[in-house]
Amino acid sequence: MIRLETERMILRPLGTGDFDAFYSYRSVPENMTYMIFGPDTPESAKGFLAMCENWWKEDPPKIYEFAAVLRDGGNMIGNCGLYMDDEKRVTAMLGWCIHRDYWNRGYATEFVKALLKFGFEDLNLHRIHAECNADNIASARVMEKAGMRREGHFIKNRFDRVGDKKMWYDEFFYGILQEEYLARKDK
Ligand SMILES: CC(C)(COP(=O)(O)OP(=O)(O)OC[C@H]1O[C@@H](n2cnc3c(N)ncnc32)[C@H](O)[C@@H]1OP(=O)(O)O)[C@@H](O)C(=O)NCCC(=O)NCCS
Repeated sequence: MIRLETERMILRPLGTGDFDAFYSYRSVPENMTYMIFGPDTPESAKGFLAMCENWWKEDPPKIYEFAAVLRDGGNMIGNCGLYMDDEKRVTAMLGWCIHRDYWNRGYATEFVKALLKFGFEDLNLHRIHAECNADNIASARVMEKAGMRREGHFIKNRFDRVGDKKMWYDEFFYGILQEEYLARKDK
């Protein structure tokens, strides 16, 4: 079983046994404003968790979706993942979500750094990227703190759900190369 360790968290495969903790934030509109999917119903949350378990059974997985569990107390406070762009396994995308009760304490930055380390050092990826709604200041800030570079600001690039409406919205694209990551001293 793949398990990543950070100073304050353990990242381990997300699965159906995580329903209560997962649903406690994925069902909350404020938590899901900038997520393309959601807020979850019990059925959609269970369906997603079952898919995660199946993804983990692939060898090697194309999608690595982790539960973020606090070392202190064992609460699961969020989930984060690394998603291969295709079968060549040279580039991948990141995604994340944290229970709003735990926002602004550096947890997302901490787990994104662990995902970059995993992607570049263990999976030998060439490039890792992530996108966010340009109004999602917290997500953009996480990527900057984790050492990713804003490579694009696409105007009205996506028509999708924001809060309770569907609309065209701007997106920031962030990326980092393996060679840049390996050369960094603050990783
Ligand atoms: C995005 C998210 C994962 C960030 O998690 P987090 O653990 O709070 O992130 P961190 O504490 O590591 O960093 C957040 C940073 O954003 C800053 N921030 C948050 N809201 C902000 C705001 N409204 N204005 C300015 N800065 C803001 C924080 O101050 C912090 O930066 P700092 O350390 O320089 O002060 C969390 O907000 C979340 O789960 N949001 C809902 C799901 C989501 O949007 N997922 C991403 C979809 S792309």
